[in-house]
Order: sequence, then C-alpha cells, then structure tokens
Amino acid sequence: MSITRRKLLASAAAAAALARAARAQKAAPGGGGSGPVAISSSNGLRAVERAVQLLQEGRDPLEAAIAGVNIVEDDPNDMTVGYGGVPNYDGVVQLDACVMHGPTARAGAVASLEGVKNPTRVAKLVMETTDHVLLVGPGARAFADANGFARENLLTEKARKVWLYWRQNLSATDKWLEPPPDKLDPEVKAFIDQFGWDDFRKPRSGGTIHLSAVDARGDLAGCTSTSGLFFKIPGRVGDSPIIGAGCFTDNEVGSAGSTGRGEANILVSGGHLAVELMRQGRHPKDACVEVLRRIAHTTREKRLLDAQGRPAFGITFYALSKSGEYGAASMYDASPTGKRAQFAVADPRGARKEDCAHVFQRRS
Ligand code: GLY
Repeated sequence: MSITRRKLLASAAAAAALARAARAQKAAPGGGGSGPVAISSSNGLRAVERAVQLLQEGRDPLEAAIAGVNIVEDDPNDMTVGYGGVPNYDGVVQLDACVMHGPTARAGAVASLEGVKNPTRVAKLVMETTDHVLLVGPGARAFADANGFARENLLTEKARKVWLYWRQNLSATDKWLEPPPDKLDPEVKAFIDQFGWDDFRKPRSGGTIHLSAVDARGDLAGCTSTSGLFFKIPGRVGDSPIIGAGCFTDNEVGSAGSTGRGEANILVSGGHLAVELMRQGRHPKDACVEVLRRIAHTTREKRLLDAQGRPAFGITFYALSKSGEYGAASMYDASPTGKRAQFAVADPRGARKEDCAHVFQRRS
C-alpha cells in the first residue's frame, strides 16, 4: 500500500472515531452518556432493565444480556421466544439463539433446539466449552443433555390450540375439517387479534428478542433468541443464531441485531453490516436504516413485495455503540395492525420504550 493511501485510510478512520466521540459527548436521545446501556426489541422492556441492573453491579455484559433475555424466554405470554413459542409445521417448538461476547470476540449459537426454554444458556456453553460456534437439531439437543438441561415441554396449551386451528384451516383438500368460525377459542382469537392474520395459510410472524449491552468500561455483548417463523418447515433456521445476521458484536465498535423476517436478514448479513457502518462513523440509528434500505433493495421476488413494490414483511434492527449511543429502525413505522414500531432501552435514567426510525410509512 502506498504511503499516501495508508495516510488517507488512517485519516478517514481517525475522522470516523472523532465523529463517534463528538456525538458521544452529546446528551440523549440516542445515548452516548456514561454508564451502562442495554437496547432490545420492544418485548424486552424488563430484559433491558434487568441487564442494566446487573451491569451496574459490575457483571459481565454477556451474563447481563442473557439474564435479561431469559425473562422473555421464560414468559409463556410471549409466543415468539422460548417457552410458549409458536411451534413448527409439525406442532413442535424449535428454538434458535446466539450469544456474542465483545471482550473475547467469541460467540456461540444453537438452532432448531427442542425442549430447552433458555437456548441462550446453551449457546453460551457452546461458546465457552467447545471448539465450535453453532450446534443444530439433535446435536444441539445432545449437547444440552450432556450439560444437564432437562427435556421440557415448551408447547403451552395456547400455542397448541393456535397450531391446531392453523392446521385445521390449512387446506380444503386434506382430511382436517375447518372448525366453525363461531366456535373460535378465545385464546386463538386473542392471538389472531395480536398478530393481525386474516389468512391462516399465509401466516404473518412477529417477535423474537435481540438485546445488545455495553457496560461502563465500554465492553459489549449481544444476544438473540427466537422460536422463529410461525409453523416453519421443521429444521428451518432463521437469522437469530447466525453470527453476523441476527447478532454481531465487535468490542472496538458496537453491537447490533435484528428481529423480523430472518430470511431477508441472512441475505445481507445485517448484524455485521450495521456494525461495519458504525465503524465508518454512522450513528447506530442511521446504520440500522441503511441495512434496511439494503434489504429493501435486494428484495426482488414478487411474492415478497406489496402492491407498491415495497417489502411485504416486517424487520427491525437495533444497534449500540461502544460509547453508549443507540438506535433502532424498522422497515415500517407501524405493524399491519397499526402498532407503532418501538424498541426498549435502559440506562442509568431507567428503562423505557422509544420509537424506531423507519424506511417506509405503512399507510402511504
Ligand atoms: N428473526 C427471527 C427469525 O426469522 O426466525
């Protein structure tokens, strides 16, 4: 490399670092103050609160991130993560998760794991006790058995009823009879109201939790956990356990992750891309917007586009910098049911929800 080119690159890197530092001195919104910060998807309000509490006690950022996410994994009312998650095509709950630890630059993940409600804990053991990064299916289960995890039934009654209703309505040509619409179970109805489905053959999915955390020293960690797309083909792996897609953490720069349609994220390695954009000096929020624009640009199949040629699915990115700046962006400003796109954040000022930036307006 010539001296001039090297100098040019060095000064570009210095300028990006200066831009980050200058922004870090500004007060909120968007963070950048001193003290620990945790950011997550909107279902993680209690998770970020817990994570920051642990960071304030001096705990490791990954330990804090996982402890936060475990709250959502344990909650049967969150049907997109852990216990109570919506099952796959066969009615079996299969979970994906990953963890990434900034200070050691190590990661662990599991995919299509059955019978463990905290896949993030198994992912951490993959990271800490094996030479591997990702274990899947029966291999992940055998690894969990070896580590003493009990085989739990993750399918709650509500999730079973939702699955059965979907199965009964799936095809007019199979041997299942469609249940009479006036006999709709209240739990199934509540589920339909929440996710806004009008056609059970084309189910819309939502949920997953991503959480990124930084402690007062600037050490980072990231963690993502999900039960994946509703009624997915058994063995389907989404973006959540894919390092560089559902989560990526670089201790020199920041941490990022996503929720929403995993297939779209895998195709652009969104978590990694968000961190690289932050490395170039982008604010976390702007990095998330740019990743979503990349996804919109690369989504070309007609079946995935709406009448205006926009992505016909939801996806959100969350990012946090080493200096504590944070931001999130969603493809749309609101869900199909009109719920505003938000994320959860906690810092020494407390835990709260804030609005995501967005690329498109739902009603335009
Ligand atoms: N982002 C979660 C999934 O696609 O499984």
